[in-house]
Amino acid sequence: LKQKAAEVVYSDLPSGTTVTVNGWIRTIRKHKKYAFVNILDGSHDKVLQLVFNDPDRVNDLRVGVSLTVTGTIQRRQIPADPYEILVESYNVLGSVPEDEPYPLQNKYLSQDYLRRELPTIRFRSLSSGVAMRFRSRAVSELARYFDENEFIQTHPPLITSSDCEGAGEVFTVVSESSETPFFGKQGYLTVSTQLHLEALMMGLSRVWTLSPAFRAEKSITSRHLSEFWMLEAEVAFADRLEHIMSLVEGLLRTALTRLKESGALESVLSVKTYLEGQKSQDGHGEDKDQEITRAQVLQRWDGMLQNAPWKRITYKRAVEVLKQAEKEGKARFESSAEYGDNLKSEHEKWLASQYAQGPMFVTQYPSQLKPFYMLPTPGSCGGTVECFDLLVPDLGELVGGSLREFDYTRLKASIERTGVDAGDLEWYAELRKWGSVPHGGFGMGFERLICYLVGIYNIRDVIAFPRWVDHCVC
Ligand code: 4AD
Ligand code: MG
Repeated sequence: LKQKAAEVVYSDLPSGTTVTVNGWIRTIRKHKKYAFVNILDGSHDKVLQLVFNDPDRVNDLRVGVSLTVTGTIQRRQIPADPYEILVESYNVLGSVPEDEPYPLQNKYLSQDYLRRELPTIRFRSLSSGVAMRFRSRAVSELARYFDENEFIQTHPPLITSSDCEGAGEVFTVVSESSETPFFGKQGYLTVSTQLHLEALMMGLSRVWTLSPAFRAEKSITSRHLSEFWMLEAEVAFADRLEHIMSLVEGLLRTALTRLKESGALESVLSVKTYLEGQKSQDGHGEDKDQEITRAQVLQRWDGMLQNAPWKRITYKRAVEVLKQAEKEGKARFESSAEYGDNLKSEHEKWLASQYAQGPMFVTQYPSQLKPFYMLPTPGSCGGTVECFDLLVPDLGELVGGSLREFDYTRLKASIERTGVDAGDLEWYAELRKWGSVPHGGFGMGFERLICYLVGIYNIRDVIAFPRWVDHCVC
């Protein structure tokens, strides 16, 4: 295998070492005696500079061309970018049309533009690249934490016979070629793997998955997708909500600490700085991503990694805090918070940004606001349930979790009481029949986490091929 450009950029190879690298050309500059060609191979955030000591040798090269290059390392006096390669030979692997401009011009392009106009080639850009690389590293670190804490990674189905959240946002699965339901009954795309995770948990104790989830939500916002990835875990023998909140906090703190130590945060910040500079030179129009500054990204990470445990308050208290803040003129909302109503996105954002100034758990929501499977708070006469939402500044809800009702009869009663029409739930209720145990779990929107940590405004820009209402491109 050819040596990766990243290995050259990040290793300490001495001047004169012969290396072979691959990449796509990003820029070509011809001078009198030399030509400089910058390439990227996508494995890292740095551009690698190739030096040709005869400018005519680049005459048949064009921006976008892919090539393999052999040359020798030359050290430079630029600390951030200490290497270039003096080219000995190269071989073009893939050319580009002569009569069409390369779509990914070397100038500031907003995420919006990249996604809309260049949905396939955008992965060669630094801004999309950094999000994709960060996703990959985040998956590894989250998985590592679960491994270290005796969780089994599982793979629940994507086609289900029930609507986990009972919110009526399911996509149905039909076969083009059969007139009757393919599975003998209605099939749905999963909105959450929780119900199947609970079955796995009843045998394996601690389970997790990172799975696609599908929701036919019509809300067109910067935090909703029709197809997204959800990180979910389920824990047997958990009888206090604190267990699940501590799991979420421990998971995120550990993964973030390691991502920071391994240079992932630094990559994010260096791309931010580069794009901020590029935007101020040739940027255009409104761009929400560049409104999230480098300083703000740092603040988000610091908030997550703060020494103090994350704030935890009840829903009841949260509503009081919101009302009080409005009364004292500290906050202005489009609609005031009312006990019994769902917190609006503006409330969630205010709570995390202004009240907690970092991540915070809001617990024990009124039961009518939450799905049928949540465990009622002991002593609340069914008024509230043992659940939490984790809110973070600027974004709002990142994680939702709860203890689960683990008694068969009470769960059946809850299904009946809430009148939920969630398809076939008998198998789920029956999990409580054979040695049921107290348990709980959570689900975290993976793209929301990535957006938050990379400082990208719109959730559509951290997933490779975003799907939302009226949009299914490529
Ligand atoms: O709060 P939600 O709906 O909870 C559940 O589905 C539970 N069954 C999870 C569990 O306990 N195992 O979704 C969980 C998280 C949300 O907090 C949010 O971050 C994310 O999933 N999410 C979405 N992300 C992107 N696009 C959407 N349409 C999303 N809907 C939820
Ligand atoms: Mg939720």
